[in-house]
Amino acid sequence: MAKPYSEPPAVIVSDSSSQIQSWYQIDSELASVILDCRQGVPSLLYYGARLAAIGEHGLASFDRHEAPASPEKEPTIALLPDVTSGFLGNLGLAADTAEGWQIHPRLTSAELTESGLCLVAHCSTTGLRVTYELALDQTTGVLKLQCAVANTSEARLSLHQCAITQALPQHVERVLGFEGRWGLEFRQHNHSISTGTYLRENRNGRSSHHCPPALMVTTDHCTESTGEIIAFHLGWSGNHQMRVEQLANGRRYAQLGERFEPLELILEPGQSYQSPPVYSVHSSQELNASRQRWHAFVRNAFDAVAAMATRPRPVQINTWEARYFDIDESNVIALIEKAGGLGIERFVLDDGWFASRNDDRSSLGDWWVDKDKFPNGLSPIIDTCHRHNMTFGLWVEPEMVSPDSELYRAHPNWVLQHKNQEPILARHQQVLDLSQAEVFDYLLNAVTKLLTENDIAYLKWDMNRDLHQAGTHAGAHAHHRQTRAVYRLMAQVKSAFPNVEIESCASGGGRVDSGVLNYVSRFWPSDSNDALDRISIQYGVSSLIPAETMGCHIGPEECHLTGRRHSIAFRGGVAFWGHLGIEMDISSLSEIDQTSLASLIELHKYHRGLLHSGDSLRIDRCDSDSAWGVVTPNGLEGLFALAKLKSDTTVFPAPYRFLGLRADSDYRLSLIWQSDRSRHIKAHQEMIEAATFRGDFLMEAGLTLPIMKPESILIYHLAAVD
Ligand code: DGJ
Repeated sequence: MAKPYSEPPAVIVSDSSSQIQSWYQIDSELASVILDCRQGVPSLLYYGARLAAIGEHGLASFDRHEAPASPEKEPTIALLPDVTSGFLGNLGLAADTAEGWQIHPRLTSAELTESGLCLVAHCSTTGLRVTYELALDQTTGVLKLQCAVANTSEARLSLHQCAITQALPQHVERVLGFEGRWGLEFRQHNHSISTGTYLRENRNGRSSHHCPPALMVTTDHCTESTGEIIAFHLGWSGNHQMRVEQLANGRRYAQLGERFEPLELILEPGQSYQSPPVYSVHSSQELNASRQRWHAFVRNAFDAVAAMATRPRPVQINTWEARYFDIDESNVIALIEKAGGLGIERFVLDDGWFASRNDDRSSLGDWWVDKDKFPNGLSPIIDTCHRHNMTFGLWVEPEMVSPDSELYRAHPNWVLQHKNQEPILARHQQVLDLSQAEVFDYLLNAVTKLLTENDIAYLKWDMNRDLHQAGTHAGAHAHHRQTRAVYRLMAQVKSAFPNVEIESCASGGGRVDSGVLNYVSRFWPSDSNDALDRISIQYGVSSLIPAETMGCHIGPEECHLTGRRHSIAFRGGVAFWGHLGIEMDISSLSEIDQTSLASLIELHKYHRGLLHSGDSLRIDRCDSDSAWGVVTPNGLEGLFALAKLKSDTTVFPAPYRFLGLRADSDYRLSLIWQSDRSRHIKAHQEMIEAATFRGDFLMEAGLTLPIMKPESILIYHLAAVD
């Protein structure tokens, strides 16, 4: 339980039964939060490394003297700055009410909760009530902030903005964000925080490939192993806005929230809006620590992920790049039988199994088995899986409909649309309006029927287009209600079938975020199985999700997206690091490749306990290499990779400086996987496996490396010897 500051500070507001302190300090093992309520609204004065109790004096020291030509008291950076507060940054709370737009919710009550604080504010003129919930995770120091806005007046109001605003320490200098596109997601960019605003707005209706809802602010020289960082994750899979701004007075803030269209969020009397949560993760040491804290938090705080903690993630095969739409009972059974021989544990039947779905132009919405391809239904397939000790997974895309489908012909009004406008098709499909009760019920019944009639362990829940014309049938903006309805649908499926695992896929990594994380336990980060591109995609996405939730597949030798060719040893060595899958036609593999694949699968299974629960690490290298690893929290065992990305101007790679080991322990090293089998690598292997190395040597001097070929990978296992 978080410990509120024990010496009671002055009480400043008490127009209700409960008293509100002028400030709060809440501590966890790693972090402290100081919340200032002196101006009648809560402002985050401090979120960072744990502090001893700061006292009234410490609080007062945050205040600055009057600046020339400025208000005597600087307007605070409130969690939801409103127009009346005098804040000159972007408003965090804005609404139009029957009484006008000058809303001024001021604190009326406060209650300490098990993990933090719940505050309530009320606007006496407009009847707007705001609830702030703050929770500080005791072990990881992750801060969760969430707000709700309720309309307690007699008239409707329009909410324009409800974005959580956090003051930043002035020593953070840079903002690290993500960009990308289909097939190349989670590229990191890095900008300095200076005059002006870093603003990312996502209007795609899903968390998107180009602007996933996460960013970090860091000190100037922040690397994997030095520097200070606060990472932000917005728990939302729809439209959003993320802003980092330096004000003219030098103060900085980050603001994250949902993005509304005009008149999108109308609150009738009695209705309320709940903002998505904003999670903040602080580390005063390095990027690695913030990533590890976030992963530990995800593993514990999100039920769908936590539920999997004791279940090994099965190695799976997916039919998509193996056969695309060319699937039927006999070729699927042949694939299952082949997969069983390779040690694969789950078979996933991807797109093409339903209605008349022979390409991507038809049948979405018609969620019954295609009797031409599968005349006996899915039972023979599922039975074959079970005979080969495999569970069965199925692809679905519930939110979509093809114009060429029985569903659309029967219900053309079930789609999102703009009045009198030609619908914009994307991937030949339209989006169902899930806010319509009949549509929602139809989808819930369809998914329920599939899960009831078939023994399905896993759903790959896809979503293959942006929302271009997001209007409901009733003529309202759909983005907000559509995202909420998708969550409701997933929640109802999960509650009826708690053991069914759901994977979030949206044309690859278009829906990777901490909103959908409440329901899913796996993500598909990209449609590109190009092992070289995957290295940076996996690097980027690992800032958002832990390894066991990151689908990593070994694709065909020639990548279908990039045309680049890689050996199975390289592809396998890269895919090894997440939740392993195979996505290629294994019936056409050479004997040698089959043997390689089977041994990689065996190796992954042997090490997946560590891969899927350990502390993830990235190691700073020059840009022609990439290095990463995972260690047990006690540092006694680890797995590390070095990938050579491209040719370098120096002949030898720089020594490998391991991280996360115990300086005073001796380690036995083994090279457990290599895609480059040159004599140099062989000699290197003999050298490292002949002796033990102390942790301080491995971390400080580093391991001398052999010359490596571009696009090759080495994987080391390290274990401390007693
Ligand atoms: C997009 C996904 O990302 C792919 O893996 C595959 O499932 C296709 N959709 C199927 O249509």
